[in-house]
Amino acid sequence: MKKRVAILISGRGSNMRALIEAAKAKDFPAGIVLVLSNVPNAGGLDFARRHGIETEVIEHKKFPSREIFDNAMDVALNRANAEIVCLAGFMRLLSPRFVEKWRGRMINIHPSLLPAYKGLHTHSRAIEAGEKFAGCTVHFVTAELDDGPTILQAKVPVLPGDTEDALSARVLEQEHKIYPQALRLVAEGKAKI
Ligand code: GRF
Repeated sequence: MKKRVAILISGRGSNMRALIEAAKAKDFPAGIVLVLSNVPNAGGLDFARRHGIETEVIEHKKFPSREIFDNAMDVALNRANAEIVCLAGFMRLLSPRFVEKWRGRMINIHPSLLPAYKGLHTHSRAIEAGEKFAGCTVHFVTAELDDGPTILQAKVPVLPGDTEDALSARVLEQEHKIYPQALRLVAEGKAKI
């Protein structure tokens, strides 16, 4: 049986797309059953709808607190019988209770070689620091931001004269490869906390 996966997005959803495409393969151990966005016009929503995947918008602004917003997401995830949650450019901090509930079953992709460059603007910070390498990490989500056990990483060179855009495109190409691979490992029970 394929594991039921929900993807949480806030924007263009290119990693979401990579997961949806990968999950089409017969032998892929997971199927995408829900795409949930906290932003009503997130670009990724259209793609998901066109692929016949159920989408839901839950606007964080309409909730009085983070906990209550997270609880609404939890209700939607349970209604879809989601077993694994993939954060893919989901730009909200999650409350400890939600994180604890999905511990070991929620993964995230971050555009740096964690533990280096947690948080935002990873590429410009890496370029400014004169790093020779950059990359991306898929990891289990724990209470700390961009923390938690690593599942897979990919490394790319930082080239002379790199701009933030050039480096981010080089890293993104790798993100689209390792996120489906990491989801496969989690769905097969080969990667665990
Ligand atoms: C990616 O760089 C991802 O690593 C980070 O946010 C960005 C989302 O891009 N967490 P997309 O929405 O998947 O295209």
